[in-house]
Amino acid sequence: MTLTISVIGTGYLGATHAACMAELGYAVVGVDTDPAKIADLSDGRLPFYEPGLPELILAHTSAGALRFTTEVAEAADADVHFLCVGTPQRPDGLGADTSHVRAAVAGLVPHLRRDALIVGKSTVPVGTAHELQDLADSLAPEGVRVEIAWNPEFLREGRSVEDTLRPDRLVFGVASDAAERSLRAVYERVLGAGTPLVVSDLVSAELVKVSANAFLATKISFINAVAELCEATGGDVTAVSEALGHDARIGHAFLKAGLGFGGGCLPKDIRAMMARAGELGVDQALTFLREVDDINMRRRHRVVELATEEVGGSLLGRRVAVLGAAFKPLTDDVRDSPALNVAAQLQLRGAGVRVYDPQAIDNARAVFPTLTYADSAAEALADADLVLLLTEWSEFLELDPEQVGGLVAQRRVIDGRNALDTDGWRRAGWSYRGLGRPRMEPIVEPAAPEPVLAG
Ligand code: UDX
Repeated sequence: MTLTISVIGTGYLGATHAACMAELGYAVVGVDTDPAKIADLSDGRLPFYEPGLPELILAHTSAGALRFTTEVAEAADADVHFLCVGTPQRPDGLGADTSHVRAAVAGLVPHLRRDALIVGKSTVPVGTAHELQDLADSLAPEGVRVEIAWNPEFLREGRSVEDTLRPDRLVFGVASDAAERSLRAVYERVLGAGTPLVVSDLVSAELVKVSANAFLATKISFINAVAELCEATGGDVTAVSEALGHDARIGHAFLKAGLGFGGGCLPKDIRAMMARAGELGVDQALTFLREVDDINMRRRHRVVELATEEVGGSLLGRRVAVLGAAFKPLTDDVRDSPALNVAAQLQLRGAGVRVYDPQAIDNARAVFPTLTYADSAAEALADADLVLLLTEWSEFLELDPEQVGGLVAQRRVIDGRNALDTDGWRRAGWSYRGLGRPRMEPIVEPAAPEPVLAG
């Protein structure tokens, strides 16, 4: 028997999950309250950039295995319901807003006609699943038993399809054997491929997700703290990071010093985790995350400081090319983007900033309408006094430093992601500044020696 799956909330997480569930062979209905989003998805259009996902959605909507609706009642017959609605940062900055997950449960449960499993995937403050169970119990129709489980999602933007179909691990937070059996059935193919599974209680499953993101953020800020030390001492953080990463206990991943983390998850999740710890009376356990956040924000100021230094002490009237607006490559997401934050700070200090990004310009313009945007890297670079690489898209890493050197007024680059081929740029006459690295002058090749004439 083919399982039927509903996915409530078809934003980034939900659209990916719905498409991947269809890819696993299930009949899937995606539900969202936003009619524009549903119309787009139904036509196989994705309202955001994510490599590989539009093709998957189009294939399964065309085949009839995947459909989208604004009517939550149409999800009532599904065997398993996945909750994928957002948990944005609260306007007061203190914790995550869980009103959408509660609204999703409250919207779905009264329509259920048979026992059901609702599986949360959203990142939530620990304790939310138990609250949702109470809510579901209070709203369930007579004779219907609704159970809540938690199955956190670890997908990365830009790699969401791959991360969903071939995850590093699966986590099932369950309160009964029946819930575990249902989740094992849903993920049969993924588990069959050897994916590690951790089965836990609801609370632990909720904690895994926020802990994973807090750990990743801590690792990035740790190496960025070392970068600060390098800047004070003349060391080179890229060498320190490489050597640290060879220690198998540490590893290379998330140890790249640079402009730091942004996006819709890491910054929000560490703040929400601290806020929840405060509510639980154990705020001291997580005070270090305040430092993690502060170190991260200091990197953005550092880039502005370096830019000011590079152009001789004042940014006023200087033309600065900013390469990158998305918070990282392979996404058009500009939420809490370090690149845009820096661009806006430079503009505030009087620089003439031109920003280019291969995918994120429309989103950037919506958030920072007063910045100037270019249609190409070449347009951003024209006559620039200073070039800043702030998002390491491969398009930028592949630029020919000699050729782009011909476009700018001054061959000066700040590499906010320590990603460029340092010597290649220096040999093309560029002065190079990375983060946590000494300033590097252009490399001037010694002139070929005069041939010694015999006699
Ligand atoms: C993150 C988690 O990785 C994912 O598991 C979770 O489900 C959602 O949050 P994402 O927000 O897509 O995913 O971005 P990620 O690839 O983790 O990068 C986060 C930020 O850290 C980016 O701004 C990136 O530029 C920065 N980063 C990453 C570094 O500064 N240094 C590194 O070494 C790695």
